[in-house]
Amino acid sequence: MQKIIILDFGSQTTQLIGRRVRELDTFCEILPYNKFPHNDPDVIGVILSGSPYSVYDPEAFKVDLSGIRGQLPILGICYGAQYMSHTYGGRVEPANSREYGRAHLNFIESGNRLFEGIGEGSQVWMSHGDTITAIPEGFRCVASTDKVKFAAYQADNEPLWGVQFHPEVFHSIDGTQLLRNFVVGVCGSRQDWSAANFVEQTVAELKAQLGNDRVILGLSGGVDSSVAAVLLNRAIGDRLTCIFVDHGMLRKNEFQNVMNDYKCLGLNVIGVDASKKFFAELEGVSEPERKRKIIGAGFIDVFDAEARKITDARWLAQGTIYPDRIESLNITGKVIKSHHNVGGLPEEMHLQLCEPLKWLFKDEVRRVGRQLGMPEHLITRHPFPGPGLAVRILGAITPEKVRVLQDADDIFIRSLREYKTRLSGEEARRVLAAGVPADMRDGEIEVSLYDQIWQAGAILLSDVRSVGVMGDERTYENPVALRAVTSSDAMTADWAHLPYDFMAKVSNDIINHVRGVNRVCYDISSKPPATIEWE
Ligand code: XMP
Repeated sequence: MQKIIILDFGSQTTQLIGRRVRELDTFCEILPYNKFPHNDPDVIGVILSGSPYSVYDPEAFKVDLSGIRGQLPILGICYGAQYMSHTYGGRVEPANSREYGRAHLNFIESGNRLFEGIGEGSQVWMSHGDTITAIPEGFRCVASTDKVKFAAYQADNEPLWGVQFHPEVFHSIDGTQLLRNFVVGVCGSRQDWSAANFVEQTVAELKAQLGNDRVILGLSGGVDSSVAAVLLNRAIGDRLTCIFVDHGMLRKNEFQNVMNDYKCLGLNVIGVDASKKFFAELEGVSEPERKRKIIGAGFIDVFDAEARKITDARWLAQGTIYPDRIESLNITGKVIKSHHNVGGLPEEMHLQLCEPLKWLFKDEVRRVGRQLGMPEHLITRHPFPGPGLAVRILGAITPEKVRVLQDADDIFIRSLREYKTRLSGEEARRVLAAGVPADMRDGEIEVSLYDQIWQAGAILLSDVRSVGVMGDERTYENPVALRAVTSSDAMTADWAHLPYDFMAKVSNDIINHVRGVNRVCYDISSKPPATIEWE
């Protein structure tokens, strides 16, 4: 299959470039800057990403492009553009002030292939500390902005471009058109990467790979494992056995609701209520990493015990998706939280790993889910952490605290689903680009708050109590914090600017209906420096 290679120099937006290319129905792979697959005949073009480094940094990532230049079309973005300019004899210098934010293109050359269909003044997004002050000989300037002389350049008579702005980010209004011009116009993509093709091809591959073997899969209620299960079910039917473990810290009624959904989808699911075990093991534990470790280990125990009953299983399937596998350049190398996912089974079970979604980004998983006819509420479900509400109760966990938090969380999430707002312009475009199914009418779309945000939930500050008054009675109870964030990948996130009337109603509903809570706060921290989950 044709593919674009994106060489990663460590930018925060590298994955976004990948997603934009995939949106053009073109397969792409993100590889570390120095791992270009020189012998892969399917590669039709190369994109060099941005980087946190300056080309002059001693640690800056450097790569020999001689085996690529002249063989394949190249597009350098930000650092990628600066790196090529620097390498081929141009000049890169620190900008007087960091060039950050919106800018507008003035074309120096008209009719350049990379800018076909893009008008004078088109808004682009800049984010760089260095700037190109001279381009190499044999290169020419294609576009400038008020502050940036060489906003875009091309090598004469060669399909090699550099742009100092970020076409992949939403604020570059014609960024998708630019990438289309490169990927389709220059590289000649046939645009045959689609959900329908993926399903057809993957089902055929799974049939061939698995034959008559039995497969086990751990379900979490989340989008990835659910889509993986339905895809496998399409390929091998009842020879797939799914295991869904309830550790007692799921959302209100989640276990039952999700079990029902799975049964309606025709999946062969074993539901295991292991809540007693988890509550016992977590008794008195309030340190976040210990909670995570106990739940991670307990989960594997329960899963193993069930899986061993399926004695003829040969495969363990997982809903691993592409961002989980992209080899990270590990620039900081520090672990902030130990994330828990369905762990590996003991080696002696000799299970082989099957990961049918391993090439997909999250939005593609959702598209595949729709293609498979799965219900929209399963597909658009927010991410939820493996350790569940355990990492949203600050302090030791008890069943009663979980009940309180489940009730508050349920009011918050239901209210987010019920509250609809009308969006137009850039906001509407952003929501539609994220794959939210909404109909445009008179230039507007109507979308629930739930569908406009990445993730939301309530947090119980169970070791904190404050005084309140209810009727004529003094209360001395716990606060609940609400968290709602916008994000595209959970690596960075901003707090969602929820409407005041919405927050007022949710606060009233929680305090009036959830016994044990007398105060509601809203978390206005972005990530970084905070994280999405409180623990
Ligand atoms: P943080 O809190 O690190 O969360 O900003 C980033 C994203 O990861 C989710 N999360 C988890 N997901 N197992 C998971 O599968 C975990 O242990 C886990 N902890 C956090 C979190 O909900 C957010 O989407």
